[in-house]
Amino acid sequence: RVSPDWLARLPKTELHLHIEGTLEPELLFALAERHGVALPYADVDALRAAYDFKDLQSFLDLYYAGADVLRSEADFHDLTRAYLARAHADGVVHVEIFFDPQTHTARGVPFATVLNGIRRALTDGEREFGISHRLILCFLRHLPEADGFATLEEALPHLDRIDGVGLDSSEAGHPPQKFERLFARCRELGLPCVAHAGEEGPPEYVWQALNALRVCRIDHGVRALEDPVLVAELARRRIPLTVCPLSNVRLKVYPSLTRHPLRQLLQAGLVATVNSDDPAYFGGYVGENWRACAEALGLTREELLQLARNGIDASWLEPAAKARWL
Ligand code: HPA
Ligand code: ZN
Repeated sequence: RVSPDWLARLPKTELHLHIEGTLEPELLFALAERHGVALPYADVDALRAAYDFKDLQSFLDLYYAGADVLRSEADFHDLTRAYLARAHADGVVHVEIFFDPQTHTARGVPFATVLNGIRRALTDGEREFGISHRLILCFLRHLPEADGFATLEEALPHLDRIDGVGLDSSEAGHPPQKFERLFARCRELGLPCVAHAGEEGPPEYVWQALNALRVCRIDHGVRALEDPVLVAELARRRIPLTVCPLSNVRLKVYPSLTRHPLRQLLQAGLVATVNSDDPAYFGGYVGENWRACAEALGLTREELLQLARNGIDASWLEPAAKARWL
């Protein structure tokens, strides 16, 4: 059994984190007040009580509704700053954060408002907490590919402040292939690509993320375990998986943490990492994901060290910065 102190001090990364998913009910209510928005919940406790999800879609419905209070640059700044403070408390040294511009531009919030608020907090956070960062623009897969192209068009003047692209939202019925041309364009622009695949969707979607989208990392990817040929390919190519254990339990991908396949992923030789996904909604920031997995799965010191090394290795830090942690 590892000591809590040792686990707390382990240098951690977070490579799968939706900034909109860090919106705590308290901040959500404060921002609603800031903007004079009426909420369909009496108070913070009533909202939190609604966070009882049966699958990915039932979560996404609340996640998109919650994001409606994010309107000004200050809102995005405050949100990101609060997240970085939490991450720092968990021993996180490097973050690669997703944002969903379409969720905001569809409501009339300008792309630059979102980007400026998040970026300013990330830059401040680097100084204040010593947390390095990357920022990943995610396309919403439930929308048409043409909407993604329009969003990429809006992003073009800001590409110096966007480090890569991803694909999120409702997985079932929206295979990676749907975005093949959009991701080809992103690659031409020099943007590294990642995609959510194999969370609720089948191993075939992971294959498509690799072969049609040419991603360098798979977000979730846990269902890859159903396909031994795919597991061998991911291991051979050292394609990292950004695994989100508490998210998987909350969204009923696994019935409990004791049934989570984190150890099997490591034993299969995969570059598995530990991440929190949408911590305000799933009941735990990244430190809690580490503690809960260590406890429920009885992870050894060697397994935990491997997970920490995988996080650094899977990140987009330059080799010299990686060497500092490895
Ligand atoms: N899966 C898909 N889309 C998402 C998620 C997720 O876990 N979190 C936020 N958007
Ligand atoms: Zn996610």
